[in-house]
Amino acid sequence: MEKKPTVLSGIRPTGNLHLGNYFGAVRNFVKMQETNECYFFIADYHMLTTHPNPKDLQGNVRQVIIEYLAAGLDPDKATLYLQSDIPETAELYLFLNMNAYLGELERVTTFKEKARKQPDNINAGLLTYPTLMASDIIIQRAHLVPVGKDQEQNLEMTRTFARRFNRMYKVDYFPIPKAFNFDDELVKIPGLDGSGKMGKSEGEGNAIFLCEDPKSIRKKVMRAVTDSGPEQMNQEKPEAIQNLFSLMEVVSSSETIQFFDDHYNNCTIRYGDLKKQLAEDIVSFTRPFYERIQELSANDEYISRVINQGAEKARANAMKTVRDVREIIGFRKIY
Ligand code: TYM
Repeated sequence: MEKKPTVLSGIRPTGNLHLGNYFGAVRNFVKMQETNECYFFIADYHMLTTHPNPKDLQGNVRQVIIEYLAAGLDPDKATLYLQSDIPETAELYLFLNMNAYLGELERVTTFKEKARKQPDNINAGLLTYPTLMASDIIIQRAHLVPVGKDQEQNLEMTRTFARRFNRMYKVDYFPIPKAFNFDDELVKIPGLDGSGKMGKSEGEGNAIFLCEDPKSIRKKVMRAVTDSGPEQMNQEKPEAIQNLFSLMEVVSSSETIQFFDDHYNNCTIRYGDLKKQLAEDIVSFTRPFYERIQELSANDEYISRVINQGAEKARANAMKTVRDVREIIGFRKIY
């Protein structure tokens, strides 16, 4: 029987999971754990590019584990772990950095964006973010990587590094992984501020979190950016309005979307009504997550057990890879 592709993905512990993380990534994780060998981790090494204080880092990591579980990840079906519990990742990262070139790293859009946003902290970790990410992926010899649209270029880099390694050492060792989403296209969930994607660092009020209470969700949605309304029938929707419709696409029924779309097209839409409906649909969608998060937060012992169990399995697999890679490179065996 042919072996099913191995699946791997990760999320940085920047705080709580938002709808972008859910629809871009975690929803796919939950589906894939049913059929594939899956590795899902928390990218805490990656967080160090922004120099978090140790207490915040620890708290945020725990929170993301809780929210992974609340979203439906099952530690008996998928391996859930922390990136920093696999120190072999850092060794593979070192090897990959020897064959990663300044020019290609500097061209990565996320690097350029981050360098613009934090001009006083353009550290080497930021530049080599794609090699660390490649290391995360290929250390588990993954084939499919469920991610949102914003990670597409990083995945392309991973493919380049994996191919380069294979070519350089004339081996067929690393699979060439692919970005994955069930609906063919990778997803980009927009934020509430009228432009761009939903994200934690895009400013207050832009993102809605799985753990958010209904009152706060309603407040944020009602404040979302709109305009004064369409002036011509069937006019193309401006970005801010299209964004609200895109959010409806993931949380509302098709009748609801049709209803507001018709009203938009004949210029009778009331954005207040649209936002009220959207807020209610988000509240109904997030409620079960919200409740599970509250329950899991009280269960420290279970959370620790999940993390330990995942670390053991993920590390054993990673150690095997690094052992093989050391041998391929020409180092002597040490373990
Ligand atoms: P991060 O933590 O920024 O985001 C985690 C996942 O959520 C997706 N995502 C979105 N998808 C659609 N619309 C949005 N608005 C949106 N916002 C976030 C992201 O695409 C991602 O899938 N570099 C990664 C973490 C990482 C990783 C890896 C991922 C480190 N190593 C190895 C996969 C494999 C990151 O910063 O994602």
